[in-house]
Amino acid sequence: MTNSIGPAQPLSLCAAGPLSGDVTVPGDKSISHRAIMLGALAVGETRITGLLEGEDVLATADAMRAMGARISRSVAGEWRVAGVGVGGLLQPTTALDMGNSGTSTRLLMGLIASHPITATFIGDASLSGRPMGRVITPLALMGASITAAPGPNGRQTLPLTITGLCPAVALNYTLPVASAQVKSAVLLAGLNTPGETTVIEPIATRDHSERMLAGFGADLSVETTAAGRIITLRGEAELQPQDIIVPGDPSSAAFPMVAALIVPGSDIIIRNVGINPTRAGLIRVLQAMGGSIVLLNERSVGGEPVADLHVRHSALTGIDVPPDGAPSMIDEYPILFVAAACASGTTTMRGLDELRVKESDRIAVMAHGLAACGIACEELPDGLIVHGSGGDLIPGGATVAAQLDHRIAMSFAVLGLNARRPVTVDDARPIATSFPGFVPMLRQLGATIRN
Ligand code: S3P
Repeated sequence: MTNSIGPAQPLSLCAAGPLSGDVTVPGDKSISHRAIMLGALAVGETRITGLLEGEDVLATADAMRAMGARISRSVAGEWRVAGVGVGGLLQPTTALDMGNSGTSTRLLMGLIASHPITATFIGDASLSGRPMGRVITPLALMGASITAAPGPNGRQTLPLTITGLCPAVALNYTLPVASAQVKSAVLLAGLNTPGETTVIEPIATRDHSERMLAGFGADLSVETTAAGRIITLRGEAELQPQDIIVPGDPSSAAFPMVAALIVPGSDIIIRNVGINPTRAGLIRVLQAMGGSIVLLNERSVGGEPVADLHVRHSALTGIDVPPDGAPSMIDEYPILFVAAACASGTTTMRGLDELRVKESDRIAVMAHGLAACGIACEELPDGLIVHGSGGDLIPGGATVAAQLDHRIAMSFAVLGLNARRPVTVDDARPIATSFPGFVPMLRQLGATIRN
């Protein structure tokens, strides 16, 4: 992985004219990972259109190649994956470098857990501090042997070595933390496990794994009960290759969306954005704050709901953001903090303990950067209270540390668009993990950027 090699690349933005135009955002990161993984487990050739070619997804593709899949790219976004079949993964001969990608790591650990192979996972400084105990616990119950490095606060972290068990032991597991990665790791382990593997999620998380597993022909059922969603997968599955169209990533669309809302006079369209309800929480919250976001041409693409978003500058008002919506917008809080910083009044966001274990501690890093840019905010153990500028330009004039976190870097870049003095992100390289064309897209919309 490349994002920590070479000199840091600072990025500076400050207020300019309104944003206008028509843009697309790259393919959905979650769906792209899953398309490569399931394609690699089908027998035959899966074709993927619109794949996100960010570093995280490329890490997944490299790992699946190292385990026997043949994966090639014809033109931008068009990929072919020749799978090895469920149970057919090969022993990788070198450590799997996951770069910055928690999704690659946790989902691939699930796949390996039920194959008779051993793999070592390594990653960058950010990933190497993230907790892996949440996947180690269920995968060990299924029979995998895992040794992990001791990390901060008693965490089990990378580098980590996992040896799968084949046949593994089917599991009935209730998620102790609302995590689509943990859910997906257990379901992927269940693919090569005799019998039924069941995951119960008391709080719904993104459902791309369930949708795509069903699309590839796995025998999977989902029941919604008082205890939550019960997902049951019959193992020893045979997956059929698919033609997959990856919609635009709502987590990437969040950046131009908030940019247009906060920059006076802006009027933009973001085309082909995934609006899966398990991902669309930010749209609902920004609309509740007074944001003009209109969904156009709602349609279904490859089993996922998609729309074009018409976003216009709006006078935003602070609200208490309902914590129960957090899983449906978990990656969008850094940019929601930015929207709150430009709103009138106070926005309170709680129930966000998970933000502390993302690519960075997103509560602490955002609170620190917002304060440096002249925004009053109060850090809570599980959230942030932001006192907005009332729609005026924010002071800015600070350099903020992105801490190897793509979404922190993009959030402060967007804040700079509504700042009196430039906001500088110390290092924009991490943006390539999820949104390689971010800076050109902002330029296309009319932003003034120094880098
Ligand atoms: C993801 C799930 C979320 C999200 C991450 C991608 C996925 O993580 O933050 O960016 O693709 O399953 P958690 O499962 O840790 O909530």
